[in-house]
Amino acid sequence: MTKLAIDGGTPVRPKERFLVFGAPLIEEPEIEEVVACMRRGWIGTGPKVGQFEDDFAAFKGSKHAIAVNSCTAALHLSLFAAGIGPGDEVITTPMTFCATINAIIHCGATPVLADCDRKTMNIMPEEIEKKVTGRTKAILPVHFAGRCCDMDAIRDIARIYDLMVIEDCAHAIESEYKGRKSGCFGDIGCFSFYVTKNVITGEGGMIITEDDHIAERVKVLALHGMSKDAWRRFSDEGYKHYQVIHAGYKYNMMDIQASIGIHQLRRVERYWKQRQQVWLRYNDAFQGLPCITPTNAEPNTKHAYHLYTPLLDVETLGKSRDWVLSALTAESIGVGVHYLPVHLHPFYRKTFGWKKGDFPNAEWIGERTLSLPISAALDEADVTDVITAFTRALTSA
Ligand SMILES: Cc1ncc(COP(=O)(O)O)c(C=O)c1O
Repeated sequence: MTKLAIDGGTPVRPKERFLVFGAPLIEEPEIEEVVACMRRGWIGTGPKVGQFEDDFAAFKGSKHAIAVNSCTAALHLSLFAAGIGPGDEVITTPMTFCATINAIIHCGATPVLADCDRKTMNIMPEEIEKKVTGRTKAILPVHFAGRCCDMDAIRDIARIYDLMVIEDCAHAIESEYKGRKSGCFGDIGCFSFYVTKNVITGEGGMIITEDDHIAERVKVLALHGMSKDAWRRFSDEGYKHYQVIHAGYKYNMMDIQASIGIHQLRRVERYWKQRQQVWLRYNDAFQGLPCITPTNAEPNTKHAYHLYTPLLDVETLGKSRDWVLSALTAESIGVGVHYLPVHLHPFYRKTFGWKKGDFPNAEWIGERTLSLPISAALDEADVTDVITAFTRALTSA
């Protein structure tokens, strides 16, 4: 048997070619567009952001798309613009990134968690319903790894209890569910263009909505609360006075970022197909290993294939998930964990009294999950290296 790199063997890839987890594919058109943007001199919020917003709205078929500088900002602004504040509760999943929870906290509202399903890793509608109180104002579903939540059931609950639905689509730009696109099921959809995401701008986010009032509020709040189109105040039309109508935030996207996003968005389908191929290859190669491979996309849905998250059979393996992370790192394969359940982080434990045992499914996943590279930047040889390294780690433990 080949000696693992963690035990002093030769790594699957040399250290100099360490496969960075989530590395994006950046192509010439966005490089040229960024350079052109810099040469033009208007690098802040301007026409490129406007174009990116229009392109994104067309891609989603939404009435409004407002670009911001992260999905965290998108979530915060969406909740705030929707009127959610102190005394209100927002129901979301423990199987998410801390940004989802922090956005709720930053509005002065209280996050309330409902456990997720072990197979889909998405929030369970029946758990949501148990958590609804007189203070609940919204449901914040996260389409984990790019798999849509059970939106029929979630929309039913929202209708019965008169709740808003604000979707965290950070993983789910291409996702669809029964003919509808992610971000379009509820009142507001929030997207991320962070470096590891399916479409990138470096840092960046987008808010989509059909609601004119929310769109207007979000636009103003994203730029200090200054009156509409304040970003134009230094344009060649001459200086424009602005009025501050809210205590807003500094969440606007820059033209430099949009210059990347415009070209990335044009390739969204091609990149999706590339990741789907990687996903299928992994699923095929890992049959028979002591792990549960991600379950297939549900019928009549489109999975965005943002993360590939096998669950290790740690009992059979006799090794912990963290040992496998170390073994893969030693083989020069970058890995991630999505996620240690959010309720077990010290701040939230202290603040909300959350503890081990509160969300058994999220905890079960959190002990077993790891994320392998899945990005359009991977070539055939990279994928083969990941398969070799993962197979070695799981068969020689
Ligand atoms: C589920 C989820 N929500 C929100 C975010 C925040 O996105 P951003 O980094 O664009 O603020 C992330 C980022 O990884 C995420 O995974």
